[in-house]
Amino acid sequence: MTAVRTAILPAAGLATRFLPATKAVPKELLPLGNKPVIHWIVDEAVAAGVEQIVVVISPDKTAIREYFSPAPALDDILQARGKSELLDELNRLLDRAAFTFVTQDEPGGLGQAVLCGRGAVGDEPALVLLGDALITAEVPVASQLVAVFEQVGNSVLGLEEVPDEKVMSRGIVAAETTPDGFLRVSAVVEKPPVAEAPGNLAISGRYLLTPAVYGYLESAAPRPDGEICLTSGIAGLIADEAVYGCVFDGVRHDSGTPAGYLKLLNALVTSQ
Ligand code: UTP
Repeated sequence: MTAVRTAILPAAGLATRFLPATKAVPKELLPLGNKPVIHWIVDEAVAAGVEQIVVVISPDKTAIREYFSPAPALDDILQARGKSELLDELNRLLDRAAFTFVTQDEPGGLGQAVLCGRGAVGDEPALVLLGDALITAEVPVASQLVAVFEQVGNSVLGLEEVPDEKVMSRGIVAAETTPDGFLRVSAVVEKPPVAEAPGNLAISGRYLLTPAVYGYLESAAPRPDGEICLTSGIAGLIADEAVYGCVFDGVRHDSGTPAGYLKLLNALVTSQ
């Protein structure tokens, strides 16, 4: 079985829910302690064994690339002042993983952002970790997905149970447990009314996808707003090959809204 060596981090969205704060600062770079949100997410990917990080950025989000690039002049100053430990953690991360940046020219949806990563990933399975979804967990969620992948060899979706009132705003799956104890996904519905939803399991910002997904994304019809959603690609996969779910152990935080970000800060402070 092919090992999971790459993670795609889509970070090219407009972040309209966090304006005006995100007009000049990408939401993925908002600080959580001394590290930005996206650094925590890269840590999760690297803990799962990933060696290559593919970050999808928009043309104006070059600050994300700068954050993950070496800064020799700053290193020199810190060293001269005896403070080089301040960048040690980041520099170790830069040594451990190779970073590739690809540009999504327009915010054409999450599906299109993932498709932008195709060339860098090649013909291999890849994790997809949303750049604004942080999941606190004892075992990093990316590792939980990889553990399932290593047993089933097919795509795995990170899932969480959501209350009825949230079903209408999430991608909901129909799934059943196989005789060998895995959760097999048979359908995915984007933002269904509760009465029509196949259940309460929602896709939650973590995916491990086989390369077949790119073909489905390429042929997916855009939504009326012009965006290609990742769900369309996943629906294509489900029609053709087995797709599994992993109801992860962990708490998902959406740092893409002011309220979600403040809650996340609070959760991290109280967990210290
Ligand atoms: P969101 O839908 O939460 O991000 O996408 P958004 O579109 O930036 O936010 P709002 O709704 O306008 O406030 C989840 C992740 O996918 C990326 C975002 O940057 C975010 O990290 N994304 C989204 C892309 O990379 N490209 C897109 O076209 C859309």
